[in-house]
Amino acid sequence: MTAIRGAFALALTCFSATTALAEDFPGSRQIMMMMPYAAGGPGDVITRIAAAGMSKVLGGQIVVENIGGAGGTIGTAKVAASAPDGHSLLVMHFGHAANTALYPNLRYDAIKDFEPIGIIAESPMAFVAKKDFPANNLKEFVAHVKANKDKLSYGFAGIGSASHLCGLLFFDAIGTNVTSVPYKGTGPALADLIGGQFDFMCDQTLNVGQAVKAGSLKAYAVTTKQRLEAFPELPTASEAGLPGFEITVWFAMYAPKGTPKPIVDKLSKALQQALLDPDVKNRFAGSGAQTVSQERATPAALQAFLKSEIDKWVPIIKKAGVTAQ
Ligand code: MLT
Repeated sequence: MTAIRGAFALALTCFSATTALAEDFPGSRQIMMMMPYAAGGPGDVITRIAAAGMSKVLGGQIVVENIGGAGGTIGTAKVAASAPDGHSLLVMHFGHAANTALYPNLRYDAIKDFEPIGIIAESPMAFVAKKDFPANNLKEFVAHVKANKDKLSYGFAGIGSASHLCGLLFFDAIGTNVTSVPYKGTGPALADLIGGQFDFMCDQTLNVGQAVKAGSLKAYAVTTKQRLEAFPELPTASEAGLPGFEITVWFAMYAPKGTPKPIVDKLSKALQQALLDPDVKNRFAGSGAQTVSQERATPAALQAFLKSEIDKWVPIIKKAGVTAQ
């Protein structure tokens, strides 16, 4: 009987210790939120919106760190190896699923080395080109790419990026490939596309939308099932000549494996509250990107969705025969 009482007392002590830990969290220490793509890109924008919204709820300071390169795997590996105390978080898009098949020597397991916090936002994409690209609709764009494949170049943010995965599906759909120009994020890639340094890209409307509206880029189609309210004049790729073509980027938040559950729950509740914040929603207005429902901003929903996305992308990548060195 004494042993049971002792075990119960120990369990109670541990429970009350982690609960107290969560109540005090984050305390005076700042939270580092990793965005493993370059500053100024769509991932960085989404991360900073989430950080600002959660900081209002948690009361602590959240600092965004950008470590680009290798399809986001460098920054992701840093978080996987960080102390599981709630002060190191990762925001990453569906490349977290695809990279399991693209990078043979990953220094982490996409599922086992992380605690899911929740999904943040969905971010549609569009096919865009430099403003003097000689095509005025998607059909002409595809025909020109196929006829000039040896002269054209495609900008992207490295193997495993959303701009890479959209390109993978696109070049497979049209049976052609062109020279690709890698960047550490589509923020810096956008500046070069506007400058005509390369010819076209598939990127998130959150990033390229303003340049399209300003006439600095040509846009041919969005990659969503339905047209976007923010860009009603743009047809979907499916209606404009690429039947069934669809890809939407999703961003989610993770903590290192072993982060105490009361802290994971507190972070997830802060994310959910941030997604309801009118200031957060307003910052997405007009971009095409949007925050997800409360049900999806939970650890369980993210864990299930991540597993389904790994199951989806692995065969696509194996069929394409692509791996990063
Ligand atoms: C970015 O934030 O730069 C983009 O998410 C890069 C990409 O994945 O295409």
